[in-house]
Amino acid sequence: MTPVQPGILAPVPRLARYLSLELVPGGDAREALRRLAAGVEPASTVLGLGRSLALALGRAVPGLRDFPGRSGAGIEVPSTPGALWCWLRGADRGELVHRTRTIEAAAAPAFVTAAIVDAFQYEASRDLTGYEDGTENPQGDDAVAAAALDGAGPGLDGSSFVAVQQWLHDLERFARLPPAEQDATFGRRRLDNQEMDDAPPSAHVRRTAQESFDPEAFVLRRSMPWADGARAGLVFVAFGRSFDAFEAQMRRMAGEEDGITDALFRFTRPLTGAYFWCPPVAHDGRLDLRALGL
Ligand code: HEM
Repeated sequence: MTPVQPGILAPVPRLARYLSLELVPGGDAREALRRLAAGVEPASTVLGLGRSLALALGRAVPGLRDFPGRSGAGIEVPSTPGALWCWLRGADRGELVHRTRTIEAAAAPAFVTAAIVDAFQYEASRDLTGYEDGTENPQGDDAVAAAALDGAGPGLDGSSFVAVQQWLHDLERFARLPPAEQDATFGRRRLDNQEMDDAPPSAHVRRTAQESFDPEAFVLRRSMPWADGARAGLVFVAFGRSFDAFEAQMRRMAGEEDGITDALFRFTRPLTGAYFWCPPVAHDGRLDLRALGL
């Protein structure tokens, strides 16, 4: 068995919280991480570290780099790096609030909370536009192969790289599009989730078709809708054995291959973009932080 954090491979939960923490200047990250590793349950809380944190610990995790910001015709893909990222998976919003407090207490005083985003599952894993999300995810062993390192050595095998972007939807703008154009935005039909034969090249699934890349670009997506007052969108989350597959997809979405930008940008845009390394789990089921010298 590859020692992947089980929360990565499990299906998307009903509710979740994304907690981003930043490192306080001079803070003792080592002690805080030891407390977190002892206290966090990897089945329900997925944890990832940014490059700045690995460097602060004096360790460069091979393959962990910064999220590349980019722009295309009329679109921007910002880079907003972070030190520590926690994906709290659950089914009870109150419990998530209290778990957040426990994590914040364990991480203090070295870390302080930078942002919290509350997320949820809409129907059976739909984006707020109503389109089913996650259909073409690899399953079983293929999911593990796409999402986790193998053959990289102890402390690295089973670890995963995650790309996280908070997207803000303009749902009014999307609702104003005729239904055929809505389907063409994704390249799938909302009613039955069937792929359209005549989808335009700007259609999201034509931009990102994982088998169409050379080498093939498979990722394990675990995105969830978010809402906060009147604002809403999708927290896009993709786990990979490296960042290469995500980056190939994002480049094509931004039009860097052929000048065609993804039709998604007509109604939604990324507010954030960050990369994290998710450590593997040890035999006792706790986070294995050997690669960081802990
Ligand atoms: C607001 C942002 C996004 C929304 C609403 C969205 C939604 C969707 C939907 C509805 C599908 C079709 C069903 C499925 O296979 O899951 C899909 C497919 C896919 N999306 Fe996204 N997506 C978003 C952003 C992204 C980003 C940023 C990437 C990567 C850079 C990405 C990568 C993919 C991939 C790889 C597929 C499967 C393509 C295939 O192999 O057929 N998506 N997405």
